[in-house]
Amino acid sequence: MTSMSTPSYSPGLAGVIAGESAICWVDPNAGLLYRGYDIHELAGHSSFEQVAWLLLHGELPSREELDGFRHRLSMERDLPPPVLAMLRSLPPDTHPMDALRTGVSMLSAFDPDLNDPSHEANLRKAARVIAKVSTIITSGWRACRGLDPVPPKLNTRHAANFLLTLTGQLPDAEHAGILDVVLVLYADHEFNASTFSARVTASTMSDLYAAVTTGIATLKGPLHGGANEESMHVLEEIGAVANVEDWVKERLARKEKIMGFGHRVYKTGDSRVPVMRELGRRLESRSGSPRLIPICEKLEEVMQREKNLCANVDLYAAVVLRLLGIPAALNPSIFALSRVTGWCAHIIEQQDHNRLIRPRSLYVGVPRRSTMPVHAAASQTLHCGGAALTPYLGADSVQVDDSMYRRSVRRSRSVRRGRRRAELGRGGTLRGKVCPSEWHRSLRAGQLLPAGAALLAGLYQPICSSRLHRDRWLCFARFCRDAGTWRASLRSAATENSGDWRREDQV
Ligand code: COA
Repeated sequence: MTSMSTPSYSPGLAGVIAGESAICWVDPNAGLLYRGYDIHELAGHSSFEQVAWLLLHGELPSREELDGFRHRLSMERDLPPPVLAMLRSLPPDTHPMDALRTGVSMLSAFDPDLNDPSHEANLRKAARVIAKVSTIITSGWRACRGLDPVPPKLNTRHAANFLLTLTGQLPDAEHAGILDVVLVLYADHEFNASTFSARVTASTMSDLYAAVTTGIATLKGPLHGGANEESMHVLEEIGAVANVEDWVKERLARKEKIMGFGHRVYKTGDSRVPVMRELGRRLESRSGSPRLIPICEKLEEVMQREKNLCANVDLYAAVVLRLLGIPAALNPSIFALSRVTGWCAHIIEQQDHNRLIRPRSLYVGVPRRSTMPVHAAASQTLHCGGAALTPYLGADSVQVDDSMYRRSVRRSRSVRRGRRRAELGRGGTLRGKVCPSEWHRSLRAGQLLPAGAALLAGLYQPICSSRLHRDRWLCFARFCRDAGTWRASLRSAATENSGDWRREDQV
């Protein structure tokens, strides 16, 4: 490896600022702003369409803009017939998120603006995809159950239209209003995993559908959007408040994660939980037999005590969606129904000020190594100072394996500490002074065959790459030169050692 300084590394990119955005601010102390507006105010006063416009355009819409946007969304809800046919062709047990991902990907082929990344074209595509995502979810769900799609209703609000096209019945106004608030709460959350992955795709200047498809694929995972489906399974499995304590302790003892708890950014509580919890309480109190909310509250108490972890939005969203009559398998799709607005806003922002997102990785793999032609060493016996080294090479392959390299690194450390005996593993022991000059002598005397020389050069390379006295380096260079088959190794060692390949010529 070269000796360049290592950039700082944060596992899982925790705490890393990966870009600038003017869309959303997550306050680790349980706060959330969309374009500067507090989520609690928006949940109380604004519809999903107003919030979608706000995210996309930066300001809340005027009355005219809002009417126009609502009309636009309701005009864009129909799906191209081939997309409907594709949904009908899926196996009945297809997960709704898989149907949605495939549907959005397929939609791209029908959009005349597909390859125009301008701001205006991206806004047009955003309106189309936001509208159509709703229809893909509901039509896909129905198609998998052998039901015909319910045609979207013109000039119906997004949440109400979703429930209508899911069930075939006009929803109760309170239910539609509550789903509307759920959509507001889920609409954006800065660089969460799905938004970030959508931005990565957008940063290659791929199209908006490709980036939204990426977002859906990322959202599906149970550590992200899939958590609201898993949370419902948790609540069903627990079944009653009396079971919570033992259930949690058992899971924690097995080091399992409890879905609906914990968050990468919030450590003192999720800003969306109080509103979502309140919606759940409201709905459950109407049912006359509160069951799920008390389980959640007990879970919160136990998780706080046992792990100092707070509930996240997905725990209570699971309850709210269940009480709205939505099957748990659709929970992540409801998340997508809303978050698609955030994705689109971020994709547009990314492409308006684009710079390719391309971080580095910290390499922890096998150090540099080389292969030799198979014929050079197959079934050859290697000797060095009388010790047989054959076991390193298989009968039909001479590729140096990982374990050899690990040994070689161990060995290089011991060499640096001045040890004179090198353990080469698997029975092969090289005794005496570990020095290329000795190998060189063996090579010249015909005791060390070229394949063995190549092997030793590979083993020696980590030492060359770190710190080597000039004389020792020249010795190694001569050895490699006479080994003949190992110029590549010598070149890389020279480059890493001093950046000066010409040293080989001085040999
Ligand atoms: N249940 C049990 N323990 C949890 C936990 C959970 N839901 N979430 C985190 N922890 C524990 C971890 O095991 C770890 O414990 P340890 O230090 O004893 O090993 C500690 O809390 C820190 O967790 P970590 O995995 O570093 O947090 P993270 O920031 O990497 O992960 C989540 C954040 C969201 C992925 C994680 O909390 C999680 O998996 N939650 C469940 C899934 C979920 O609800 N996702 C929706 C998020 S909105």
